Amino acid sequence: MHCVRKINNDTFWIGGSDRRLALFENVFPIPRGISYNAYYIDDEKTVLLDTVDKSISGQFFENLVYLLGERDLDYLIVNHMEPDHCAVMGELVLRYPNVKIVGNSKTINMIKQFFDFDIDSRALIVKEGDTLNTGRHTLKFITAPMVHWPEVMVTYDILDKVLYSADAFGTFGALNGNIFNDEIEFEKDWLNDARRYYTNIVGKYGAQVMALLKKVSTLDIATICPLHGPIWRNNIAWFIEKHTKWATYAPEQNGVMIAYASIYGNTENAANILACKLANLGVKNIKLYDVSATHPSVIVSESFRFSHLVFASITYNAGIFCNMETLLLDLKAHNLQNRTVALIENGSWAATSGRQMKEILSNMKNINILNDMISIKSSVKATQIDEFDRLAKALIETMH
Ligand code: FEO
Repeated sequence: MHCVRKINNDTFWIGGSDRRLALFENVFPIPRGISYNAYYIDDEKTVLLDTVDKSISGQFFENLVYLLGERDLDYLIVNHMEPDHCAVMGELVLRYPNVKIVGNSKTINMIKQFFDFDIDSRALIVKEGDTLNTGRHTLKFITAPMVHWPEVMVTYDILDKVLYSADAFGTFGALNGNIFNDEIEFEKDWLNDARRYYTNIVGKYGAQVMALLKKVSTLDIATICPLHGPIWRNNIAWFIEKHTKWATYAPEQNGVMIAYASIYGNTENAANILACKLANLGVKNIKLYDVSATHPSVIVSESFRFSHLVFASITYNAGIFCNMETLLLDLKAHNLQNRTVALIENGSWAATSGRQMKEILSNMKNINILNDMISIKSSVKATQIDEFDRLAKALIETMH
């Protein structure tokens, strides 16, 4: 049975949610599920904006068939060719063989890579700034390369002032009937997942995200319709501001995140000591994460949130503990910049993890690594407590 929601007079959300998938992109845990949003415009021409992941194809076609009624589908606009949004395109073409498929030249090439149906006879190739009139609506296409793939574009509906934003402004989390941001408590219930989605999916492409934000800043936007998560129809400036912070790698909050790798609890003890010292000196925003117990996508996201980061690792196989190494390489891959970092190493005989952590971090942009690295031999001794005091003070001195 169909399950749709109206956005404006003749526009509809026709997506759905998957609450069964364990790992998005087969990497990121999504305990709250994920939504795949597709949109329908019931104009003189019928228009579908993107499709969905194959996991919810049944719901999607129920929705589309319900809204189309006896009408044929005239256009499919493909803003993004990743399979979580285009997996059912083959079936769509079988059901609606007359459909024109709207995309840029990169989109059309990707359709050929993923599918075998005849695209050339159906393709309507558009480029930056082109428009498509469908009756009452005029749709303008704006390219957004590498937000998150090279073919990505966004579509602006001039009539309703709606930006169909592809992966931009998306979030992890299934939708629960309330699909609009003003129907939910976004900051309390969704912001952490939005940050984790942004930083892990498009975090690497800050410059490209800023280029898109610049392009759309000239538009009068009343509504943002992303491909994942809630639709934005108020407080849009607040969410754009969050994205600007993330895309420019500016810390969202002053505070300290301590990520530690510990086997028998001694490095964890060092992390706890530092946290207490920081708290004693008045720091209120402190978070500790065990890299073995917390998925790296969470710590990547938190690293984008906090201004100050501490990495504490045992030495393992003459190197950095494996989960810590994965985390640091992940942070590098996601282009994290502009942070103050402190290091703690532990080694029962030949401690090397500090030097090796430093090596990875020194190859990242504008990472200020504090000199006062603490080196522990097996466990923290009373004689070393001063070093923790010094490190806590050094961290605080760099906070504004
Ligand atoms: Fe939701 Fe880049 O796909």
